[in-house]
Amino acid sequence: MDQYRVFGNPIAQSKSPFIHQQFALSTKQVLNYRAQLAQDDTFLAEVESLIKNNGKGANVTAPFKELAYQLCDHLSERAQMAGAVNTLLFNTDGIYGDTTDGLGLVSDLKRHAVGISEKRVLLLGAGGAAKGVVQALLDEKPSKLVIANRTLSKAETIVSQYNIDNFSACTFEQANEQIFDIIINATSAGLSQQALPIAEHIISKAGACYDMVYGKTPTPFLQTAKQLNVNHVIDGLGMLVGQAAESFMLWRNVMPDVEPVLKLLRAEINGNQS
Ligand code: ATR
Repeated sequence: MDQYRVFGNPIAQSKSPFIHQQFALSTKQVLNYRAQLAQDDTFLAEVESLIKNNGKGANVTAPFKELAYQLCDHLSERAQMAGAVNTLLFNTDGIYGDTTDGLGLVSDLKRHAVGISEKRVLLLGAGGAAKGVVQALLDEKPSKLVIANRTLSKAETIVSQYNIDNFSACTFEQANEQIFDIIINATSAGLSQQALPIAEHIISKAGACYDMVYGKTPTPFLQTAKQLNVNHVIDGLGMLVGQAAESFMLWRNVMPDVEPVLKLLRAEINGNQS
């Protein structure tokens, strides 16, 4: 049977095996997808062993996305720009690497009827999560894309990789002086329930606020957006399922339906299994 894995550390909490098993069922694909714990010094050997044992592909999550990037023989353009991969495809040409996080984000925004084209987009954060979605956002042709980060130099480094007029970096204070249609939180602040120094008047003017973090309780950023009656307040669960669907498409050449899986996951997170 064709074998797939998700490598990470920690990995026990990963929802990817469940998501891909559901995709396989709904698209009638016969495959085995499992979570695999790895260490920095075993990751490479684990990938090689998978390839030898009928491995057709893998997902890669923290902290191996950069390491995985280095072992690819071929890369998609967006993976090249991100300097990281979340999807590996093994074929006769070697290892192909792609990053599907950005596609997952864009498809989830579209699922919520939030178009990016011609919109003013603010991306908060300049770590791996932010880097992974920049290309996909730019591909949608926003009227401007601004990255705000606590450490400005990290945002500036990302922007300098692209030669695009309407793409810039700023501090949170500078972001608070502008108006945006869509605000996307790619910082890890929400993971520890930390608030961001983004002013309420900026949030209240946005039509959509998105946080890549998901959980039973909305992040402080999304709680503020809800209180201010922002039209679209969206957490990252749909992005998670969306990026998985793009990986599945790359491996199996069939696009699974994200909605049923998303419903199951949402129910599980909210603690009602019905
Ligand atoms: P990830 O892979 O999740 O992106 P990361 O690479 O460690 O993780 O990046 C975390 C991001 O969240 C960074 O942009 C970080 O800001 P700095 O670059 O200034 O460190 C941002 N971040 C984390 N906690 C934050 C907080 N409380 N307020 C503002 N930004 C925060």
